Order: sequence, then structure tokens, then C-alpha cells
Amino acid sequence: MIPEEEVEEKIRRTAARISEDYQGKVVHLVSVLKGSVFFTCELAKRITVPVTMDFMSVSSYGDQTESSGVVRIVKDLDMPLEGKDVLVVEDIIDTGRTLHYLMNILRDRGPASLRLATLLDKPDRRVVTVEADYTCFEVPDEFVVGYGLDCAQQYRNLPYIGVIESESK
Ligand code: PRP
Repeated sequence: MIPEEEVEEKIRRTAARISEDYQGKVVHLVSVLKGSVFFTCELAKRITVPVTMDFMSVSSYGDQTESSGVVRIVKDLDMPLEGKDVLVVEDIIDTGRTLHYLMNILRDRGPASLRLATLLDKPDRRVVTVEADYTCFEVPDEFVVGYGLDCAQQYRNLPYIGVIESESK
């Protein structure tokens, strides 16, 4: 769906915007495992203001294909967020349930600011309002993989955004 060069160019431009917006500050990246690791690393490498990083892992109580919005923290952050300029980094916003829940949890920890960056946004699937501050690509409602996104845990390592075609096609 999106070739490697196009993904890299858009991440480079997003990092430039972030560097501009966070002038004079330290941006604290919060990467939500596992899907966001590739985007987090590529973004972080291109940000020119000081960067700190932390990771958390959440699991949504839901079926295989749709999140429920009730999020269980599997691995919490190592560092407190109080007073930090926090930028949450995600691979995709789909229904919005996970991020809506997560942003509320993180806001309660008292960051100086809290923003959201996502590699992909699937607005057609949204059931809860979530607006990312930085979106690299809006994508249609298809089964996208690569650049961190998986299908049964595979394909995360593809250096581009691909689509799983259904067998009926
Ligand atoms: C994906 C993605 C978001 C969430 C978005 O994570 O990274 O956290 O789903 O879905 P939503 O907008 O419908 O809530 P996933 O649960 O697939 O975990 P992973 O990152 O480990 O693959």
C-alpha cells in the first residue's frame, strides 16, 4: 500500500514538525508495544531536539479483531510522566478505544503536555473520538501489515506497509 521510501520520507517530515514544535524542550516518547517500535525508532532518529524514551505494553480485553476499550497494563512505564512533554507514539489508531483509554490514564499522571503521534490512522473504523496531533498516513479499512503491524504476529518486520488480501479475492 505504501512503499518504503514514502514511509521514510513522511516520517522524516513528521520528525521535522515535531522538532520545530518542541524547540527548547525535551520530548519524552512513550512507545506503545509492540506495533509502534519501528515507527518509534525511525521517528526518534530524526528528531533534532533532545529525546528520552520509555515503553509500555497494553492488552485490550476484546476479541482478535476489535479492541474493547478496557485496557490492561501488561508492562508499565519505567519513568514518571510528571512535568514531562510526553509524545505517545502508536502504529495505528483503529476504533480509537485503546488510545482514548490510554491517553486518559497518562493524562492523570500529570505530564506538562501530552500529544499523540501515529504512523497510520483508519478514520473509517473510529467508534471513539481520538485525534492524533501527528498522523503520517490515513489508510482505508483494509488489513494492513508491516512497519510494526502484524497478522498473527508475523509481517511486523516488513519495511513497507502492505495489505493482506482475503482468499475470496
Ligand atoms: C494495535 C495498535 C493500537 C490498537 C489500536 O495494537 O497498536 O494499540 O491496536 O486499536 P483501536 O484503535 O481499535 O483500539 P494491538 O492490540 O494490535 O497490539 P500490538 O501493537 O502488540 O500489535
